[in-house]
Amino acid sequence: MTKVTEKPFAPSCERNQQVIFDVLNSIIRTDDKHILELGSGTGQHAVFMAPQLPNVTWHTSELLENHQGIKQWLAESDAQNIKPPLHYQAGSTAFPGVDADFVPDVVMTVNTLHIMSWACVQTLIKDLGQHLKAGARVLIYGPFNYDGEFTSDSNADFDIWLKNKDALSGIRDFEAVCELMQAEQIKLLKDVTMPANNRCLVFNKC
Ligand SMILES: C[S@@+](CC[C@H](N)C(=O)[O-])C[C@H]1O[C@@H](n2cnc3c(N)ncnc32)[C@H](O)[C@@H]1O
Repeated sequence: MTKVTEKPFAPSCERNQQVIFDVLNSIIRTDDKHILELGSGTGQHAVFMAPQLPNVTWHTSELLENHQGIKQWLAESDAQNIKPPLHYQAGSTAFPGVDADFVPDVVMTVNTLHIMSWACVQTLIKDLGQHLKAGARVLIYGPFNYDGEFTSDSNADFDIWLKNKDALSGIRDFEAVCELMQAEQIKLLKDVTMPANNRCLVFNKC
């Protein structure tokens, strides 16, 4: 993330927010009340998407060090339905909402699985299995490998760049993620092709 003003700014959010919102909007049900975003980053997705879903409460979450930036984005937004960031770091903290009074109908996480370690991905998915109710949906956006192969040269380069920054980061295998989700009774509903060699994986908790 780079800073162009006083608050943090993620250029990728500007590029992907509409296409991700289109998928999210397609899986929202009329009686959904709570969306939980894991790894909200700057909070830009919340600020863009939540006002378009006025019937739900949008719960942001992040590592503590990123809360201030999210609060700055929320302070400048007119949205009435976004909650301040909860503390969630997969592998280190309890699942957000455990101590709060909501159970998410939808969980969304964007560009996080390739940043956190595989051990953290495993914990995150176990958390989802433990805390989601039947019928809850999970939207995961990001790059994925299929059959052990990168889907593009740019993703292969991105993987090298990630690992140079943090050896535990890296593009995850679609099949391995689905297998972990399946073990938690969270089944793949759809795998949507997105621009720039990304995917939107949508799951349903049985
Ligand atoms: C590439 S950023 C994406 C942020 C935001 N979702 C977006 O699309 O702009 C990855 C985010 O994952 C968060 N993250 C890293 N490790 C995490 C963990 N173990 N649990 C939850 N979030 C984590 C980081 O703090 C960071 O904000």
